[in-house]
Amino acid sequence: MERAVIEEFNHWWLSGKVDPDLALSFKRDCYYDVLEHMADRFIIALVGLRRTGKTTVIYQLIQKLISERADPTDVLFFSFDETSGGLGDIINAYNDIHGKDLRARRVYIFLDEIQKSENWENEVKKYYDLYPKLKFIISGSESLFIKKKTKETLAGRVFQFILRTFSFKEYLKFNNIKEKTPYETVLRPLLVKFVRMGGFPETFSLKNDTEFREYIGALVIDRIIYRDIPKISKIDDPGFLKTLLELIATNPGMYVDYQSLSRQFGKDRRVIKDYISYLQESFLISMLGNYRKGNAATLRKRKRAYPTDNAITYLYKQNIDDTFFGRMVESAVINKAKASAFWKNSNEVDMVYEDVPIEVKYRERIDKNDLKPVEEFMKRFGKKEGVIITKKDELEEKVDCGRIKLIPLWKWLLDLK
Ligand SMILES: Nc1ncnc2c1ncn2[C@@H]1O[C@H](COP(=O)(O)OP(=O)(O)O)[C@@H](O)[C@H]1O
Ligand SMILES: [Mg+2]
Repeated sequence: MERAVIEEFNHWWLSGKVDPDLALSFKRDCYYDVLEHMADRFIIALVGLRRTGKTTVIYQLIQKLISERADPTDVLFFSFDETSGGLGDIINAYNDIHGKDLRARRVYIFLDEIQKSENWENEVKKYYDLYPKLKFIISGSESLFIKKKTKETLAGRVFQFILRTFSFKEYLKFNNIKEKTPYETVLRPLLVKFVRMGGFPETFSLKNDTEFREYIGALVIDRIIYRDIPKISKIDDPGFLKTLLELIATNPGMYVDYQSLSRQFGKDRRVIKDYISYLQESFLISMLGNYRKGNAATLRKRKRAYPTDNAITYLYKQNIDDTFFGRMVESAVINKAKASAFWKNSNEVDMVYEDVPIEVKYRERIDKNDLKPVEEFMKRFGKKEGVIITKKDELEEKVDCGRIKLIPLWKWLLDLK
């Protein structure tokens, strides 16, 4: 590894600080979560969709470290996004430059988009086990640990954080809007925009739909589908990945039936299954399983798929009427809760979150019938609490087995329950 390459990645060795255009001033919630674990030994893994802000969080952490507790040369950064290299070479080059005793000194090693480096898990494990003082912070745009082998190699050594697109709370904070401002005039228009267009930070300043669709289409979706995924998985037909993504994005919450998709597209059932899992591993979609008692992630076959951010839906969907907007609200809620289960029986509940059934009813009026599915769930599983997310209604309904809270969407998104 050439010295100049490493030096270029670590400009703070010379200047003593991180370029403020990289360590941006606005801090995501995730930044604070990770910061709490900088002193611990284990490896921090920051994973999430492309363009959500992982590299930015890394630069912010580096800036924090060198402004408070580390010498700038104690921080080593390398990104595998565009440059290839092996960890051994990188650390050797670093040693040639600074000649530190890695057994005696705490050196922070940040490795960005590490999934692009071959055999990274064994390399990291080797250094982690040999040099207890090193602190590794790694990041990746695909689920780093999904592969069984990786999981086993690094078992017990890693703590994973998932960085998602901006939450509504972060979105308001970013726009300098206080949560206490009047709903109708200030918060509601922002909420509508957030539900329609999602939470990718770079889209907030785009001027129109054309710019928006160009950005999400080219810099997020196409890069993942035509470059990132093919780089780590063997796929013959990336165009078909895109077809599946568009199908899910324009039918958020669709039931995924491999057999019928196989017939519809004339592809082998296993291909469909693999492709869906690639979309999932690169954080473009999330899959919910049918709830069963004591086991939220169930094995039952038919799952429901949602895009992980409504920007992906907005990219493909030109006309959004009230009914469809309601479905985008459902996606936003599922994504905020990181839900992994829905419940379907004779009735259907949108999601089950920490054993609480949650149904989204984003409409003018809620009537008694709308409570039924949630109530049935509560009865069946002996739960005392249920939630309905509404457009405006806010009250508590007593039912035989407990109570159902009706909470307006914006309050629920801001945790003002
Ligand atoms: N905390 C933030 N504040 C403002 N903009 C941000 C923030 N995080 C990310 N961004 C914007 O999003 C872009 C993508 O962020 P980046 O950190 O490169 O994402 P990733 O590494 O996950 O692909 C940045 O170039 C920046 O414009
Ligand atoms: Mg990055």
